[in-house]
Amino acid sequence: MTDEPRIFLSVPHMSGREQELVGEVFDSNFIAPAGPMIDRFEAAFCATTGHRAAAALSSGTGAMDIALRLLGVEQGDDVWVADLTFIGGVSPVRYHGANPVFLDVSADTWTLDPALLANELEIAARSGSLPKAVIPVDLYGQSCDLDQIVSLCDRYRIPVVVDSAEAMGARYKDRHAGKGAKFAIYSFNGNKIITTSGGGVLASDDDEMIARARYLSQQARQPVAHYEHTETGYNYRMPSLCAAVGVGQLEVLEERVRRRREIFSTYAGAFEKIPGVSMMPEAEYGTSNRWLTVITLDPTEVEVTPAEVCLKAEAQNVECRPVWKPMHQQPVFETARVVSNGTSDDLFTRGLCLPSGSAMSDQDVQRVIGVLSEALMGPQAG
Ligand SMILES: Cc1ncc(COP(=O)(O)O)c(C=O)c1O
Repeated sequence: MTDEPRIFLSVPHMSGREQELVGEVFDSNFIAPAGPMIDRFEAAFCATTGHRAAAALSSGTGAMDIALRLLGVEQGDDVWVADLTFIGGVSPVRYHGANPVFLDVSADTWTLDPALLANELEIAARSGSLPKAVIPVDLYGQSCDLDQIVSLCDRYRIPVVVDSAEAMGARYKDRHAGKGAKFAIYSFNGNKIITTSGGGVLASDDDEMIARARYLSQQARQPVAHYEHTETGYNYRMPSLCAAVGVGQLEVLEERVRRRREIFSTYAGAFEKIPGVSMMPEAEYGTSNRWLTVITLDPTEVEVTPAEVCLKAEAQNVECRPVWKPMHQQPVFETARVVSNGTSDDLFTRGLCLPSGSAMSDQDVQRVIGVLSEALMGPQAG
């Protein structure tokens, strides 16, 4: 064991301005999921990402839930989702009684494989079993190949909801990750690159749909003085206090991306000399926010498994985590159909997420490198 303080995977990194903005909310007494700070957060979000409209919600999961509702996803529909992801973007498929079908990712981007998607769409079109929606994921802050995916889906008029929960600040071509799909969802959970403590956004270029999302997120209340409802909604609106934190965080997004990328590069430089260690690739079409630095271990060259490295790091008070367990391996989705090319399974077996928080000091990063090098190569490391 060690007396050194714990280094976490990814913790909130406040700029200091957030407290001032939270103070403004206190002064206005909008201690509620309503008020001008929420409008301000939505406007700042749109200015940052280029989306025409955005609804500030209580989580990324809630944002996906509403996106699927807006698309009319219902009992018995199929929704195709990238296999390698976190369950938050997938559970809402089940909330609507629909069936998730898992499509694998490509080894060069770790995001939905467009070739596999093209093939499956052709097969499904022939058998009349096209999905109601397709959900690619911007994994660990790396955008999927959105234009390709959207143009494939457009041929069959299938809407794309991109799960950009991890991708605030990431770029796809010359635009923000997530822009260009029918809907994009983002998470502002505490572990993300910027946070509202808990929160999410549903974004689109379709203002009417986003206005409807806001209405649905507030119990689908008709605009009359008495409480009148013609359909059921949700209680998913983002509280003002959270929005205030978000306004402050958006101001420093670029700095946060710069620091996460710098941490990634420092790790990459240090691990270059360890045989069998590779860094998550960066797609040539974009710029990842490097939300988490992820490495893979080649078992023919590295004697330890990612799980063993995690345990060794844990003993030194350093938090590492395996790559997301593919959705098709989750017991809850045991009966779901999967179209696998082996990549998600392979990455789960060989991948490891490293501490990547932008508030980490250079010394923290060096400590992780020391701990990891020893775990990977034994005490002779360094
Ligand atoms: C890929 C992905 N999708 C969805 C979510 C769900 O977001 P939230 O935690 O805000 O509900 C997360 C993160 O938590 C995520 O990483």
